[in-house]
Amino acid sequence: MDFNFLGKQAIVTGGANGIGRAISKAMVKAGASLWIFDLAEANPDGVAQSIGAQVCTVDITDPDATREAFARIPDPSVVVVNAGIGSTQAFLETTRDLWNRTLALNLSGAFHTIQIAATKMKERGGGSIVITASTNSYDGEPDLTAYNASKAGLLGLLHTSANELGPYGIRVNAVCPGLIRTRLTAASFSDPARLSEYFKHVPLGRGGEPEEVAQAVLFLASDLASYITGATLLVDGGQMASKFGTWGKENDKFDGQRWIRSFSN
Ligand SMILES: NC(=O)c1ccc[n+]([C@@H]2O[C@H](COP(=O)([O-])OP(=O)(O)OC[C@H]3O[C@@H](n4cnc5c(N)ncnc54)[C@H](O)[C@@H]3O)[C@@H](O)[C@H]2O)c1
Repeated sequence: MDFNFLGKQAIVTGGANGIGRAISKAMVKAGASLWIFDLAEANPDGVAQSIGAQVCTVDITDPDATREAFARIPDPSVVVVNAGIGSTQAFLETTRDLWNRTLALNLSGAFHTIQIAATKMKERGGGSIVITASTNSYDGEPDLTAYNASKAGLLGLLHTSANELGPYGIRVNAVCPGLIRTRLTAASFSDPARLSEYFKHVPLGRGGEPEEVAQAVLFLASDLASYITGATLLVDGGQMASKFGTWGKENDKFDGQRWIRSFSN
């Protein structure tokens, strides 16, 4: 699908890697004037140079720094609230530190980003915000208590902000990706036994690529979604629709990355 972001000022938080990088690249290609908001250690300058974007180096867990970053650039009409982290720890072992760090970025950081963005958008007469939530917004994947709680919390943020910001012409939507190939999930993607089990529950039989999430984000961010707000779009190969799993039948084979079914004539 060809999207048109010509003349739009856009921000992608966590835009230097993975899903955020794919979104940034696709938005620049669609004509946006795009700013990557990311940590210095992520080398956002190098990434921005390679895709034709600009950079604000900022730690999104710091609301004052985030506000200052917004103040340094033209007011955006599109903001993608994407920066996120996730580490595993069993529920009973989850430390206060992991809980606080995860919530500080994934939920509090998202709240501050949306609040600052919406204040600017209200002044300019509207805009579009897209949040990167997760299938983990809905389910209880083991050993990810802090992550799951942060991503579930994003749905509360989504619904409330969409409800209150609609009158100002500001739309707020979310994508909920399943397992997507990025550095965050590198360990899973290099473990075929784990993938085979995981993808048994994915009707399309495989993981997703960052570009496949980017297409969904661009749609929600674009004027093509002009009557959509408060919505979540699953980008999960059908995972959330697969109650008892899809794959593992006699004529199914896992090739290390995806399930394939051979059909007899
Ligand atoms: N990869 C997946 O399978 C998957 C699935 C569902 C949701 N998500 C969500 O998608 C988003 C992007 O994940 P990804 O897989 O691309 O991860 P990633 O690690 O590849 O990219 C995350 C980016 O966020 C940046 N970031 C981290 N802390 C930051 C901070 N304090 N301030 C500013 N930027 C910061 C990182 O530097 C990095 O560039 C996250 O919110 C993640 O929870 C990922």
